[in-house]
Amino acid sequence: MDSFLIHGGTRLKGKIEISGSKNSSLPLMAACLMTDEKTTLRGVPRLSDIDCMIRLLTELGCQIQRHDSSNSSTGGPPLDGPLDIQVTKEVNNEAPYKIVKEMRASICVLGPLLAKRRQAIVSMPGGCAIGDRPIDLHIRGLRKLGVEFRWEKGKIIGEYAGRLKGCRMYLGGAMGPTVLGTINVMCAAALAEGETVLVGAACEPEVIDCANLLNKMGARISGQGTPEIRIEGVDHLAGVEHRVIPDRIECGTFILAAAMTNGELELRNCNLDHLIAVHDMLEDIGIRIERENDTIFVSSNRRLNPIEVTTQPYPGFPTDLQAQLMGLVCLADGMSVITERIFPDRFLHVGELNRLGARIRKDSSTAVIQGVKELSGARVMASDLRASAALVLAGLVAKGKTIIDRVYHIDRGYEKIEQKLNAVGAHIERLEEKDIKDL
Ligand code: EPU
Repeated sequence: MDSFLIHGGTRLKGKIEISGSKNSSLPLMAACLMTDEKTTLRGVPRLSDIDCMIRLLTELGCQIQRHDSSNSSTGGPPLDGPLDIQVTKEVNNEAPYKIVKEMRASICVLGPLLAKRRQAIVSMPGGCAIGDRPIDLHIRGLRKLGVEFRWEKGKIIGEYAGRLKGCRMYLGGAMGPTVLGTINVMCAAALAEGETVLVGAACEPEVIDCANLLNKMGARISGQGTPEIRIEGVDHLAGVEHRVIPDRIECGTFILAAAMTNGELELRNCNLDHLIAVHDMLEDIGIRIERENDTIFVSSNRRLNPIEVTTQPYPGFPTDLQAQLMGLVCLADGMSVITERIFPDRFLHVGELNRLGARIRKDSSTAVIQGVKELSGARVMASDLRASAALVLAGLVAKGKTIIDRVYHIDRGYEKIEQKLNAVGAHIERLEEKDIKDL
């Protein structure tokens, strides 16, 4: 297992190209199961979660080809080239445990498989570092369209005869809307008979991106990006080309990295509209953010005002930036309060940030952060993707050396993060376990 060794204290300055969105790419790739023709996705990042989805789609009968990398426009590392996906065999409809336990987002093959093949078998994923990850809303929505489900030996088996039938349904749950649940039901409804109306749908940009891909393929979806999505079922979908939206969470993470290191970054391939709550919050903290087309310029003089923030469904402040924001306000002039409303247990970074000298007290789903003057390097453990990103940010400013173990978590969601950050002045080395012992 690799670790990062970070020498803290440098100011980030330069240009970074933002990759395509991981959380958009995964369901877009799964949606390719719904056509017999080749689909080409541009901007799919090279990440271990994407490799996992490639393995899963290959098991489900797809042929997948990655093309050469394109050179980055910023002088940073080259990002990945287009990905061709084509179904060649429709014999295996099962997402096996060995893949699902590695990546929960495997659940996004459920809707596409049911839509196209009338049957889907998906292993239940089990526990997760960021809290419970139920799929009851996915099941409820698909049942309303006519799918029958049963559970056998840790697997969920969904099937039906004939054709799914559109209907009007409420898809929200106790914690609000569900992103992948909305996408699963939307995919299934795209090939159903008649009209489906999803009330209480998730409004995230990733849902819009998937609806846009399906519409290019021939689906008839409207209202994406609002809580009410209308889907007029069609008989078949065609192969197309599509560019994945920029990764708003990677972008937000680098904005926070600039803010934390008192830096100046130019971020290319961004959609700041997707980060409206983050943008406004960071301006309140004292960060300057300017935009010119799809490029944004971030600078900070590192006098950080404390804030109160609650994570919410889109367009609210995203849970996927909660840990990184906490890293930033560890250095604010005063006391900040962060409440997590999407995954109330997503706080594994608190103990690790405290090891670096932060002063954070957690009470249920709220963390109270008393700003400190500086952080100090130590050995810490990455526990999930976004928590690891928060530790990298903290390591960039901590005095001395920080070692972050288990960075395979970060490789799931940030394309070439150490190369991108080193190109703008960071000092991050990737070390193998054997090298760490000698430190
Ligand atoms: N929920 C239910 N029942 C369901 C589904 C969800 O109660 O059937 C609850 C969840 O427990 C949670 C809330 O609804 O409290 C929202 O969960 P959601 O279903 O929206 O999450 P997801 O679709 O499984 C995606 C992202 C996550 C991101 C969340 C929230 C992907 C692959 N994953 O997950 O991303 O945190 O939306 O925005 O798109 C990450 O990238 O680090 C990550 C965890």
